Amino acid sequence: MNTLLLHCRPGFENEVCAEISEHAAHQQVAGYAKAKPSSAYAEFICTEADGAERLMGAVRFNRLIFPRQWARGSFVELPESDRISVLLAHLADVPTCGSLWLEVLDTNDGKELSNFCKKFEAPLRKALAKAGKLVEDPHKPRLLLTFLSGRQVFLGLAEANNSAQWPMGIPRLKFPREAPSRSTLKLEEAWHTFIPREQWDERLSGDMTGVDLGAAPGGWTYQLVRRGMLVTAIDNGPMAESLMDTGLVQHLMVDGFTYKPRQTVDWMVCDIVEKPARSAALLETWIGEGLCREAVVNLKLPMKQRYAEVRRLLQRLEDAFAARKIRVSIACKQLYHDREEVTCHLRRLGK
Ligand SMILES: C[S@@+](CC[C@H](N)C(=O)[O-])C[C@H]1O[C@@H](n2cnc3c(N)ncnc32)[C@H](O)[C@@H]1O
Repeated sequence: MNTLLLHCRPGFENEVCAEISEHAAHQQVAGYAKAKPSSAYAEFICTEADGAERLMGAVRFNRLIFPRQWARGSFVELPESDRISVLLAHLADVPTCGSLWLEVLDTNDGKELSNFCKKFEAPLRKALAKAGKLVEDPHKPRLLLTFLSGRQVFLGLAEANNSAQWPMGIPRLKFPREAPSRSTLKLEEAWHTFIPREQWDERLSGDMTGVDLGAAPGGWTYQLVRRGMLVTAIDNGPMAESLMDTGLVQHLMVDGFTYKPRQTVDWMVCDIVEKPARSAALLETWIGEGLCREAVVNLKLPMKQRYAEVRRLLQRLEDAFAARKIRVSIACKQLYHDREEVTCHLRRLGK
């Protein structure tokens, strides 16, 4: 159980290696990270037997930027038949688990394996329950089986409250047919990721106001309008008529980097394709000057040193808010619907 397996978007394995190595060094957990390009996962192999458990205990999963899911455990080779007996034998020393997820990697091979997982899940679940290895209990660790093939699985554990909300960290969001662009799912996923569901009515409510910078054709504005907000949409491009017909949207053809609202708004969202430093500076201004209370902004990633650049920009934001003596919660994640980008959520705390 001394290996940490981390899922990610294919192509971002090096970012995961850099990120988890930094956390491990910070927590004084000895080990090394490795990954194959485009494999959609990375491993952190700990020198000490309890290293992976200590690392997971010290780091909050939702503070990680590039990993979509994680689990501590080890790889197990499976035979062609009676895989369940082999799994049960490997689980002999593992405590009873509170839930079971069968996962695959976000690759073409992974997609093909998901059918196998669907068929395998019911008999496995039954056998685990019979052996006393699985009960329904959210306080017990979750058993995460990541199949690399029908013959190789990573048998891992993760705490349900300190790992992905969805299997493989992939939310199953339905594209709303009335939305003007597929980007709408990015903002919806951001809300699911950064705002606890029980706070949606309070923090995404109908009497609120929002500004959408780089709004056209309106996928993000659609999400704000769907929550009943009054939205100022900033873009030189045209907004979908269906949104303008709601009467909740004011469209201004001005520059998103210079526009400022007359009064504090509840939400600022921004999906402009720009250099990440410029988008981060926008966040610093809007949150720092109190132009908005919460913000969701996409940071487009550079070609190289993507983790280092994101860390640098987040640190710059932290320093800027500390200098202004204001408290701000800052979260950043590469969402499933993000491509060459990460999504930041900032919320001003206190007065
Ligand atoms: C990726 S698209 C936004 C898509 C939108 N979020 C949606 O869901 O439909 C980026 C938009 O930013 C706009 N844009 C680019 N630079 C801008 C600027 N300086 N000010 C305002 N809008 C800008 C572009 O016209 C484009 O419509």
